[in-house]
Amino acid sequence: MQFTPFDLEYTQSIWEQKVDINLTESGVHPIRLDDLLGDDADKLASLLSTEINYPHVNGNPELRESIAALYDGARIENVIVTVGAAEANHVVVQTLLEPGDELATQAPTYKQVWGLAQNKGCDVKPFHLLPDDAWRLDVDDLNAQVTDKTRIVAICNPNNPTGYIMTSDEMDAVVAAADRVGAWILADEVYRGAERVQEEETPSFFGRYDKVLAIGSLSKAYGLPGLRIGWVVGPPDTVEDLWRRHEYTTITATMLSNILATHALSPEVRPRLIQRTREYIRNGFPVLEEWMAQQDGLFSCTPPQASAVSFVRYHLDMNSTELMEKLCREASVFVGAGDSFGMDHHLRVAFGQEKDVLQEAFARMEKTLRSLI
Ligand SMILES: Cc1ncc(COP(=O)(O)O)c(C=O)c1O
Repeated sequence: MQFTPFDLEYTQSIWEQKVDINLTESGVHPIRLDDLLGDDADKLASLLSTEINYPHVNGNPELRESIAALYDGARIENVIVTVGAAEANHVVVQTLLEPGDELATQAPTYKQVWGLAQNKGCDVKPFHLLPDDAWRLDVDDLNAQVTDKTRIVAICNPNNPTGYIMTSDEMDAVVAAADRVGAWILADEVYRGAERVQEEETPSFFGRYDKVLAIGSLSKAYGLPGLRIGWVVGPPDTVEDLWRRHEYTTITATMLSNILATHALSPEVRPRLIQRTREYIRNGFPVLEEWMAQQDGLFSCTPPQASAVSFVRYHLDMNSTELMEKLCREASVFVGAGDSFGMDHHLRVAFGQEKDVLQEAFARMEKTLRSLI
C-alpha cells in the first residue's frame, strides 16, 4: 500500500535543527522544569525519590482525575493518557477506521489524522474553512462531504493552522452532520486554553454528542511539549478499545511525565501555565502584525483567535514549499509551508517566542522576501 509521509513533521525533521530560528512550533516557548516546580522543595524531593517504574498503563489515576475535571460530565473512566496528542490521534484512527471507510476533515488543518487515514486505505474528504470569510466553516461543504460511508468527522478546534475558534452554531452543524450518518467526531482540541482574544476557554465537543473522542495535550496551551502527555476523553467502552491499541503502540507514557503532568494540572499550577501561554500569544501576535503591515501589501491574514500561529496569505507567484525552503536556506528562519496544511500560497508563522527572537526572524525574512518582489 502506498505510504503518505507526514509532510509537516517530515519537513520539521529536516530543517528544525539546521536553522538559526525555528518559527514552526505551534506552542509557545517551553517552560523550564524549575519554573514548573516553583519553590516547592517538598515537590522536588518527592520527584527525586520517584522510582522510575512503569506508571499505570492508561495513566495514573490522579492524572486521569485531573483531566476528567477539565470536561463537563467526564469521569475517570472516560479518560486515557497517551504519549502526546500524536499517539491519541494515532490510536483513535487505528481503532475506528477500516480500509474503504471515509474520513471527513477540515481543510486547512494539521494533517496527522488525514495522513493516518490515507495510510489505512481510507478516503479522505476535506471540507473547507473559508479564507475570504475569516476562516468560517463552509457548512454546505461539510454536509456534502459527510456521506453514509463517513466513519469519522475530524475537527481541530481551535484550528491549527488558522487559530479559528468555531462558533456554537458551527459546532452544532458538525454534530448534526455526524449524527445524520452515525459517524464519530474526533475533536483535536490541543489549543483549548491558548485563546488570544477571549478569556473564556474554547468549549469542548465532549458532551455535545455521544460519539465524541476529545483529544487534549500538555504540549500547546501548557508549554510542556517535552513531557509528551496527551489524552483522549470519550465513552468508557471506546476508551477501553483505545487502551488495547495503546498497549501495542507505546504501552504507556513515563512515570515522571505522569507525575509532572499531575502537578501541571493541579488547581494551583494550571492557571499559572495558561496565563503564561496567553502572555506569549498576546504579546507575540502584535509583533508579527506590525511587521506584516510594513511589507507593502505582501501579506494578508485573519488574526488568529487562539494558538501561537497565524496562517498568512502571501501575494507572490511562488509555491509555499519553495518559499519555505528559500527562507530556510537564505534567512535561516523556518516557517511552515501552506502545502503542509492543504493550502498553498500561505505560510504558517509561529509567534509564541520572545520579542527579540521574533524581530530578528522577521528582519531576516524581509531581506529574502524583498529579493522576490
Ligand atoms: C492539532 C495538533 N494535534 C496534535 C499535535 C501533536 O501534539 P503532541 O505534542 O501533544 O503530540 C499537534 C502538534 O503540533 C497539533 O498541532
